[in-house]
Amino acid sequence: MRLSKQKFHIAIRLFVILISFFLILLLTYRLYIVIKFVKKDTKFILYWIQMWNSKTFGFGADKYDLFKNCKYKNCFATHDRRLIPLNKFDAIVFHGAEYDVVSYKRPSIRHSHQRYIFANMESPKGSCPVNLDLYASFYNWTMTYRKDSDIFFPYGYVIKNKTGYVMPSVESIKNRTLMAAWSVSNCYTPNRREILFHNLHLYLDIDVYGACGSCKCSEDKDIYNNYIVKHYKFYLAFENSHCKDYVTEKLYMALERDIVPIVYGDVDYDTVAPPHSVIAVDRFGSVKDLVDYILFLDKNITEYLKYFEWKKNYSIDRNKQRTACKLCEMLNDPSQPRKVYKNIDNWWFGENYNYCKDVNELSNLTRIWPY
Ligand SMILES: *[C@@H]1O[C@H](CO)[C@@H](O)[C@H](O)[C@H]1NC(C)=O
Ligand SMILES: *[C@@H]1O[C@H](CO)[C@@H](O)[C@H](O)[C@H]1NC(C)=O
Ligand SMILES: *[C@@H]1O[C@H](CO)[C@@H](O)[C@H](O)[C@H]1NC(C)=O
Ligand SMILES: *[C@@H]1O[C@H](CO)[C@@H](O)[C@H](O)[C@H]1NC(C)=O
Ligand SMILES: *[C@@H]1O[C@H](CO)[C@@H](O)[C@H](O)[C@H]1NC(C)=O
Ligand SMILES: *[C@@H]1O[C@H](CO)[C@@H](O)[C@H](O)[C@H]1NC(C)=O
Repeated sequence: MRLSKQKFHIAIRLFVILISFFLILLLTYRLYIVIKFVKKDTKFILYWIQMWNSKTFGFGADKYDLFKNCKYKNCFATHDRRLIPLNKFDAIVFHGAEYDVVSYKRPSIRHSHQRYIFANMESPKGSCPVNLDLYASFYNWTMTYRKDSDIFFPYGYVIKNKTGYVMPSVESIKNRTLMAAWSVSNCYTPNRREILFHNLHLYLDIDVYGACGSCKCSEDKDIYNNYIVKHYKFYLAFENSHCKDYVTEKLYMALERDIVPIVYGDVDYDTVAPPHSVIAVDRFGSVKDLVDYILFLDKNITEYLKYFEWKKNYSIDRNKQRTACKLCEMLNDPSQPRKVYKNIDNWWFGENYNYCKDVNELSNLTRIWPY
């Protein structure tokens, strides 16, 4: 009886200590913000909603040193609307594919120095049905993978630097006895990549992994690193829709590895991938031409290896921090004019809704062979 009473007291004490510790932590944090706030040159960025399940837009979860490696380090980003008065934020970031005013409300006050930012990594085909007509003259800046965005937000950056890359040996390429792999979970797509696959599959051995595949070859979770890059020469990095500049992590994840990507998307790959790094489907007039070229590379290891030469001079960076730095830099640039997107719907979809290709505008290679 006595003992349990003692235990009870200890528990209470521990509880009080814990609570005080937590309060002190919270207080210190608030103090830190206040100090930043008093320092007049801090630029505050608010994430108004999450980007899918990331409260911090993939820029790094609640990192308070997000900008420490940037040219401008005086930015501070948070998803806590109450941290400072709403009108003191320099930028408010919205996830364009999810943000609808009914569920997520608008900021109650808007100051004219603030930038409202339309952030979007989805293709216009993949966006949730948010009616962008409701956002006339709402957004000041855009932050997307589109090259004409105010803040370019790509899925990966190509960085020029001397890397000391060592080419794979001829022996290790000879060891790769399988032709091509494809990992895919979305089986029916706007750009008919499944038909392109079907056409290629008539002439090439392509193993399909993921939800659309029949290859339950391995239980290995990291099959890409542990199996595919060791046994296959090519990897299909097909986007799911042909929309202006839309190219995703599929490309950059393949480039990071020692495998040659065969790419299909509505982008000039010369501008988003390093020189001689990919085989772009749209450069070929027919399935036969493409297949012949792949078979040629399969036989000619010297030519095949040329697809890795770029790795000596470039590296791939999929970290989104570069985009956060760019945002901070823009906020620090007093020469940035006032700007507003009167019609964000047109900007995103195209004036005639022509930024995504229709089935009849796609490559001949996506028609059922023989076409
Ligand atoms: C090249 O750049 C990448 C990406 O920023 C970096 O990870 C890597 O360390 C750099 N390599 C060299 C040798 O500087
Ligand atoms: C090629 O495969 C053989 C047999 O699996 C293995 O012993 C050898 O180490 C491999 N060579 C290279 C360079 O990967
Ligand atoms: C695609 O097919 C159409 C109709 O068969 C043909 O007129 C056109 O020249 C083809 N395009 C290419 C690039 O081969
Ligand atoms: C590989 O291709 C190059 C250039 O097309 C050619 O000069 C060479 O003879 C080929 N090598 C083999 C083994 O076919
Ligand atoms: C890499 O850079 C060096 C020097 O800048 C250049 O001589 C070489 O041709 C480049 N290699 C490739 C594959 O671009
Ligand atoms: C942002 O857009 C609003 C709404 O149209 C406008 O009043 C404001 O001047 C713009 N601010 C900047 C900094 O561009």
